[in-house]
Amino acid sequence: MRRACVIGWPVDHSRSPLIHNTWLQTYAIDGAYTREAVKPDNVGFFLTQLAERGYVGCNVTVPHKEAALTAADVTDAAAQAIGAVNTIWIDGEKICATNTDSYGYMTYLNAKAPNWKSASGTVAVIGAGGASRAIVHGLLEAGAGAVRLINRTHTRAEDVAAHFGSRIEVVTWQDRNKALEGTCLVVNTTSLGMNGNGMPDIDLSVLADKCVVSDIVYTPLATPLLKAAKARGLKTVDGLGMLIHQAVPGFEKWFGVRPEVTDELYQSVANELGSKAC
Ligand code: ATR
Repeated sequence: MRRACVIGWPVDHSRSPLIHNTWLQTYAIDGAYTREAVKPDNVGFFLTQLAERGYVGCNVTVPHKEAALTAADVTDAAAQAIGAVNTIWIDGEKICATNTDSYGYMTYLNAKAPNWKSASGTVAVIGAGGASRAIVHGLLEAGAGAVRLINRTHTRAEDVAAHFGSRIEVVTWQDRNKALEGTCLVVNTTSLGMNGNGMPDIDLSVLADKCVVSDIVYTPLATPLLKAAKARGLKTVDGLGMLIHQAVPGFEKWFGVRPEVTDELYQSVANELGSKAC
């Protein structure tokens, strides 16, 4: 039996077991996917012991994504560009790592809003944490003309810009609404809206009618931001698709089948979250 797990601290909230175990059942694979609570000071050691513990690999969730990058022997371009990893597999003696968050975000965005880039190519990203880096990387790779990075703490946005280069325009919090003008996509990468609480303090009326509004928060699926965007007549993309699609490459590495993301899987994860679509 092939076994994989997700490591985090805490890890109880992770929906990855639901996703991977659904696929294991769908494809009748003799495998298992479980949670492992790993303390922050134990990440490196745990990863060196993955194979001994019977695992072919693991997912990595907060707060271990940066530590896992440091612990890995082999990292790919996405992991290096983002500065964090979420997917690990063992190849011989080596711990190999990648980051599939940008793949997950972009795959769902392209599926739900294939014309997101058509209007101007200029996008606005709100937030400058780890999730922001993954999404900025994905948008740049996908050919976004410019990324206007809006963050409450200016220095954090400057750090991201220094990392990704000249197509990033750092916007002060004060100028955020002006920066939304002429964008074709707005992404919330902050935790604002989680559990239905709050939303980024932005003026949606300045957005172009064709602008797509997307959120990485998926509890609830219809975040206050997405509800407001919908009420304004804008196309919206929820955060759950990113979570499900980011799981695809890991499953394929560990279990040898590239799994399909179906409406049924999306619905069963949404149901488990007790959440309705926007
Ligand atoms: P993650 O790694 O999951 O992205 P993070 O590194 O804690 O999480 O980043 C959280 C992001 O949400 C940051 O951009 C943060 O802004 P600051 O850099 O100014 O802290 C943003 N954020 C959180 N609460 C916010 C609020 N009330 N208003 C605006 N931005 C907020």
